[in-house]
Amino acid sequence: MAHAHLELSARPRRNRRTPAIRNLVRETGLSPAHLVLPLFVHRGPDEPIDSMPGVHRWSVEGLIGEVGRAAALGVEAVVLFEAAPDELKTPIGDEAWNPDGLIPQTVAAVKAAHPATAVMTDVALDPYNSDGHDGIVAPDGTIANDETVDALCRQALTHADAGADIVAPSDMMDGRVGAIRKTLDQHGHTETGICAYTAKYASSFFGPFRGALDSAPRSGDKKTYQMDPANSREALREMELDIAEGADMVMVKPAGPYLDVVRRLADASVVPVAAYQVSGEYLMVKAAAASGWLDEQSIIIETITGIRRAGADVVLTYFAVQAAEMLAQPLT
Ligand code: PBG
Repeated sequence: MAHAHLELSARPRRNRRTPAIRNLVRETGLSPAHLVLPLFVHRGPDEPIDSMPGVHRWSVEGLIGEVGRAAALGVEAVVLFEAAPDELKTPIGDEAWNPDGLIPQTVAAVKAAHPATAVMTDVALDPYNSDGHDGIVAPDGTIANDETVDALCRQALTHADAGADIVAPSDMMDGRVGAIRKTLDQHGHTETGICAYTAKYASSFFGPFRGALDSAPRSGDKKTYQMDPANSREALREMELDIAEGADMVMVKPAGPYLDVVRRLADASVVPVAAYQVSGEYLMVKAAAASGWLDEQSIIIETITGIRRAGADVVLTYFAVQAAEMLAQPLT
């Protein structure tokens, strides 16, 4: 035994021997600068969201505090969602383009308090649409594409007017990126970016988010506009269109179950690729950790690293602050 000695030309374990060597050869970097924190705002006090433990519905003031905590840890990008009360919901979702609505107010307040933080907004009608769909439901029950695109342009414009850095259409209507780009440019917002939800799948992983916003479709599903989970070639087609229409970033959503799509887009894209670790992915980790079945801290870093390794430049995640706290310590 003492002299057991294989004559190996390669011993890959040498590169794994110490933390310093592992850090030296690590291929995928993960820093708070790569993360975007999704935040929910509502007209009411700060309160925890039952369907998403650890996540809050904030007042504007509370949200500004959270933006500050994130920024102090190096997370300088947020994406805002409104939880709107029922009385603001209508069949056309017109609260979406109310210039005095809660999102424009919140954008302006965040930019005033934390000008360095990049503020992204969600462009879609579902928080304001009494049907719970991302688009306007026509009398025959279909989702009216072109009428919705018109509404999304108005919505994006109110966000840009309020000072949003990047608008993120998450609705999956055809032609909305080009139409939004044109509207923004016509109103002088040539510097406002567009992050397109390019490959957004008809996913059950969004369930807890819809609970948080009370925005589940009242009837039907989102399969006529969100992508079929079985497809990936189609994501390339969506990306080609979004980039041609002026998207500054493209996004895949959810992230974890769609890493092959992230890789496919990352290999073909000439713009940065984002991926959204959505509410259901967050909750799977939270639930397993709460049961003592998984180690929450290391799983968080592993899932986000996996999304980055698949090719995402940017990761949207409810774990952004928690991850940034861990990243303040050296990885081993
Ligand atoms: C809707 C929207 C959804 C999410 C972000 N924007 C839900 C949906 O499409 O039904 C999901 C985010 C998450 O699950 O964390 N425009």
